[in-house]
Amino acid sequence: MKNIIAFAGSNSKTSINKQLAIYASSLVEGVEVNVLDLNDYNLPLFGTDLESEAGIPDDAHKLLNILKNTDGIVLSLAEHNGAYSVAFKNAFDWLSRIEGKLFFNKPMLLMATSPGGRGGQTVLDIAKGRFPFHDGNIIETFSLPFFSENFKDGKIVNEDLDTQLKNSVKQFQKAL
Ligand SMILES: Cc1cc2nc3c(=O)[nH]c(=O)nc-3n(C[C@H](O)[C@H](O)[C@H](O)COP(=O)(O)O)c2cc1C
Repeated sequence: MKNIIAFAGSNSKTSINKQLAIYASSLVEGVEVNVLDLNDYNLPLFGTDLESEAGIPDDAHKLLNILKNTDGIVLSLAEHNGAYSVAFKNAFDWLSRIEGKLFFNKPMLLMATSPGGRGGQTVLDIAKGRFPFHDGNIIETFSLPFFSENFKDGKIVNEDLDTQLKNSVKQFQKAL
């Protein structure tokens, strides 16, 4: 059986992006889903001085190995001031220091959601432009606007948006 990972580019304990990643990954049929949380990885604030003094943290290697050994990636990015959250960018920077590449051409369903009307589209565009430089293989993207109106009890309640996500999941599934 194939296995996929699902996680959010956020360190919020109530992350709406984690909720969306969990929902989207539950729609993928016949796979084992491993839900990750960036809080479970001990990654101090990246800096080149710390890197030269202390090296790359074990948990950066651990996370990179998980990315290397999965069959697919469901990732939903939080948007902070039109960019990655600090927690995601910090993990991204640490992991990029190991092999440069991060995503090993694993099929990726890349998403974002936010409480506002753009649904994290700005950070989604940033990631779409950047991830290919790190062997990101983005099969589909999906943005969910107005999270609290459109997502309830672990599901998307807006029918059109739900259909859109389900179509994206189908394409992602085919690529696994
Ligand atoms: C510092 C900060 C900056 C934010 N900037 C944006 C933004 O640029 N665009 C946006 O749509 N939401 C923004 N938000 C709202 C987040 O989308 C919201 O907090 C969301 O819950 C973050 O996702 P998460 O719950 O998965 O961490 C910001 C929130 C914080 C705390």
